[in-house]
Amino acid sequence: MEFTHELEQYINGHILPEENFLNELERETNLTCVHPRMLSGHIQGKILYMLCKMIRPKRVLELGTYTGYSAISMAMALDRDATLHTIEIFDELDGIIHKYIGKAGLQDKIHCYFGDAMELVPGIDGQFDLVFIDADKRKYPDYYELVFDKVNPGGYIIADNILWDGKVADENEKNDPQTNGIITFNQMVQVDPRVENVIFPFRDGMMIVRKK
Ligand SMILES: C[S@@+](CC[C@H](N)C(=O)[O-])C[C@H]1O[C@@H](n2cnc3c(N)ncnc32)[C@H](O)[C@@H]1O
Repeated sequence: MEFTHELEQYINGHILPEENFLNELERETNLTCVHPRMLSGHIQGKILYMLCKMIRPKRVLELGTYTGYSAISMAMALDRDATLHTIEIFDELDGIIHKYIGKAGLQDKIHCYFGDAMELVPGIDGQFDLVFIDADKRKYPDYYELVFDKVNPGGYIIADNILWDGKVADENEKNDPQTNGIITFNQMVQVDPRVENVIFPFRDGMMIVRKK
């Protein structure tokens, strides 16, 4: 089945509606930021929201905030005492991220960090029930090792873009460093006896990993 624009519109009309501030964030990202396609958007945002409602994590870690759409979507689903920690390497995004965290009223729930996730994660104390990996595709294998011990048993690691536009299954794309990073990550997860995993084949694919 081809995922047409009409089908996307149909899905948009049959799921939780997008809040005005998220719609505004998407529009502002499109107008003012480079690579706006990176933003999660309505459907993926609501999938992340619902996964958080199901998992009910007390602490969430996100690698790759971009303009904050996925962070806000997940944080909206969290229980009152739960928090989300999100890391973004480009600190110029600080203004737009905080503007929309404010509009969503989530200032007390979302903690933003600016810098390289590889350097910052070891300094963030405490364990997590859910880690959402959505930063540099070349570093997915490193991120997996970086966060693994910080995930509680029974907790989840969710990685976005793990089909990478279908390139992971294309022999001609194997020399591309981003494709290669994702292929290595997918294989690491697949052979890791400490976890169970499934691929959610929506959009660019999400790997859902549960730590035993
Ligand atoms: C795909 S976007 C994230 C999209 C966002 N999670 C959403 O769903 O709306 C990836 C982001 O990761 C950031 N990034 C890349 N490498 C990073 C690193 N080493 N540490 C932290 N952030 C990084 C990029 O600057 C970019 O904003």
